[in-house]
Amino acid sequence: MRQSLIMGNWKMNGSLESTKSLCSAIMEGLNADDTGIAVCAPYVYLSALKDMTTNSALSVGAQNVADQTSGAYTGEISASMLKEMACTYALVGHSERRSYYGDTDDSVADRFCEAQKEGIVPVLCIGETLAEREANETFNVVNRQLDAVIEKAGIDALENSVIAYEPVWAIGTGVTASDEQAQEVHKAIRERIAAKNTAIADKIQILYGGSMKPGNAKGLLAMADIDGGLIGGASLDAASFLEIYRSI
Ligand code: PGA
Repeated sequence: MRQSLIMGNWKMNGSLESTKSLCSAIMEGLNADDTGIAVCAPYVYLSALKDMTTNSALSVGAQNVADQTSGAYTGEISASMLKEMACTYALVGHSERRSYYGDTDDSVADRFCEAQKEGIVPVLCIGETLAEREANETFNVVNRQLDAVIEKAGIDALENSVIAYEPVWAIGTGVTASDEQAQEVHKAIRERIAAKNTAIADKIQILYGGSMKPGNAKGLLAMADIDGGLIGGASLDAASFLEIYRSI
């Protein structure tokens, strides 16, 4: 039985005050023995969240990490800096990074490796656009994105990582993949990993992301290969986020 994981992606939203209130409201809804719940916050709020979440059930992650270790990379944040902020996770390759900020399969693989060097669990985001789905390219795209990391990091590196399948057409659009559409891709991702290492394939958490909300979470999370969710919009509301967490 795989452990489930519900992860919020707050993106570039909120203020210091609203971030602290959201974090408090989520923590108030958790019991000391709850596990498998995390939020990915803007870099500048990680320090505040570190102070608030120490010894709590809520884990914290970053939304990206640099593809270099240190040096003259103005504006970037390294994995060791995130480690100092007590980050458990870092998203790598979110589709918004890939489409607006030029993250490539190769740089995403570097980010994945940088996170792991510091003991931060990379959450590798993969997924196809609507045009790619309509051209029957879904499996080719997710395989290419996954293989880029396996080639650079090695299959064993997936042991300490999470995968998030996020069809780009479902992100922030209100259109969710159907339970079966999502399961089909999750299963294919797990099978591709299993072809190289069955133990890792059995263990790795594969999250679904893309307009997951309280109303559709239960169905998605009940699918055999969907181990949790990466939640954007609905994670900005503590009650909705907790409802999704409780529906697992
Ligand atoms: P959404 O975002 O839940 O708002 O669709 C998901 C994500 O981008 O991770």
